[in-house]
Amino acid sequence: MRNYLLIYVNGRRHQISGERCFQSLSDYLRLDLGLVGTKVVCAEGDCGSCTVLVGRLRNGELKFEGFDSCIQYLYQLDCTHVITVEGLKQDNQIHPVQQAMVDAMGSQCGYCTPGFVMSMAAMLETRETLTRLSVQDALTGNLCRCTGYEQIIEAALSLPKFRSASSGLQPASKGFDQKVMVADFNRHALEPVLCEYVQKWNGATNRVRFFVPCTMKEAIKFKQKHKNVTVVAGGTDISVQINKQYIEPKCIMSLTNLNELDFIEVKNRKVKVGASVTWTKLGEFCQQNLSELSEIISLFASRQIRNAGTLAGNIANASPIADSLPFLHVIEAEIELTGNKGKRWVNINRFYHAYKKTEMAPDELITSIRWNIPDRSDILKLYKVSKRKDLDISTFTAGILLKLKHGKIKKARLAYGGVGPIVLRLPETERFLEGKPVTKSVFQHAGRIASDEIFPISDVRASTSYRTQLAENILIKFFHECCDNYHDKKEAA
Ligand SMILES: Cc1cc2nc3c(=O)[nH]c(=O)nc-3n(C[C@H](O)[C@H](O)[C@H](O)COP(=O)(O)OP(=O)(O)OC[C@H]3O[C@@H](n4cnc5c(N)ncnc54)[C@H](O)[C@@H]3O)c2cc1C
Ligand code: FES
Ligand code: FES
Repeated sequence: MRNYLLIYVNGRRHQISGERCFQSLSDYLRLDLGLVGTKVVCAEGDCGSCTVLVGRLRNGELKFEGFDSCIQYLYQLDCTHVITVEGLKQDNQIHPVQQAMVDAMGSQCGYCTPGFVMSMAAMLETRETLTRLSVQDALTGNLCRCTGYEQIIEAALSLPKFRSASSGLQPASKGFDQKVMVADFNRHALEPVLCEYVQKWNGATNRVRFFVPCTMKEAIKFKQKHKNVTVVAGGTDISVQINKQYIEPKCIMSLTNLNELDFIEVKNRKVKVGASVTWTKLGEFCQQNLSELSEIISLFASRQIRNAGTLAGNIANASPIADSLPFLHVIEAEIELTGNKGKRWVNINRFYHAYKKTEMAPDELITSIRWNIPDRSDILKLYKVSKRKDLDISTFTAGILLKLKHGKIKKARLAYGGVGPIVLRLPETERFLEGKPVTKSVFQHAGRIASDEIFPISDVRASTSYRTQLAENILIKFFHECCDNYHDKKEAA
């Protein structure tokens, strides 16, 4: 068992122990290492000023992605290489991405600039083709208050011209000797980490600790012993609570080194997704295999958040507006819970008991999620309604799955989010739809039933009446988008 974290920053090795391990990466960079090029504005993953590259061991090499360092805590970063804006310099010259920002006048006050530069640098890591669309997507998680986005996008789009052999446009990670780090990480990665310190505050004394297990066995054993442990996966929910609601977990378990849960398996038309799978990895899989979910994932937060956040975290966080839930409810997904008595599968429709109350027992963890791939003839549609399209929390979500036979609805499954304390299935509406023909009047009537089955509240995002009207209208929208020409298509066939 190790009592220190091993993190490289811009090629320099750091062993971190004791109280210093319990800070956010942005604080560590700025306060401990004096790397103040990384800025902090919102401290909740919304603005991207704090973006850095994080390289993790994947198949024997380091894979780099952009992360918001304000909501990554050091205990999530054992055995990683962090590259900050200071680490971009090559041969004592500023990096071509920085030069492009200068040339395009992509900066005014400059506070957001290191974040934009790092998000562009992240694109170079994967050698992604730089198009207006891909650049806009890559910069969704970065906000600028004064320059205006056009110059920044122009800066990114000017980069391909550097790509000639003589341009020297290299991913930033290539400026470091990865071999040494990979060997160091390989030596350390199979060893769990336990760090603690005694916190003395206002006359009270508390022992604060975290554990980074490498195997499920170690994780379950720790959870069994410390039932109130705060589990951290990507941290995109929990670290925001630490930063903004000032929760102070005394015992933490970080799942980031649990590689055995980082898998997506497809067998006999059943998909199984491990609890460590990030939204980015799931999104890549869905692009090929589940386009409807892929659409929703493309609207989910920003790249920095998708690189860290997990599907399991979205489920366990139990928010009624979590974007994965309408899909998982209508697909009848099952959650694998592992605890000291072994494994059990729970249908997601029975997983939530009340607001933030779930079926998961104190000794259990979510270890994977599985569902059947819908039949080709099924109609699956997912909706996310939010105040703005990108990087926004949902006001209302919906999942609709229909099985049709001979022009009639054989099976209907509907789930709405943002209309009650948990995501709701709509049994009355489903019963009404089953056996009915696919016509506009049927969906209009179904909409009225649906609006009677929900309990929306008014909050900052929307009023009760807005959400009630949406519950009705979404079914008419669904009819026009997915079923309007159903009879024409059948006749043509
Ligand atoms: C800027 C921003 C934008 C966001 N946008 C969206 C959005 O568009 N849509 C959306 O749905 N969400 C959004 N979120 C919320 C968040 O990103 C997601 O809920 C994400 O999926 C959480 O996953 P995580 O791995 O980061 O969870 P964490 O924060 O690590 O954990 C969340 C909760 O789940 C528990 N947990 C995690 N893993 C397990 C496990 N394996 N077993 C048991 N418990 C576990 C933790 O203890 C914690 O209570 C956003 C968050 C931010 C900061
Ligand atoms: S400071 Fe805004 S995302 Fe980190
Ligand atoms: S240049 Fe001022 S916030 Fe972007």
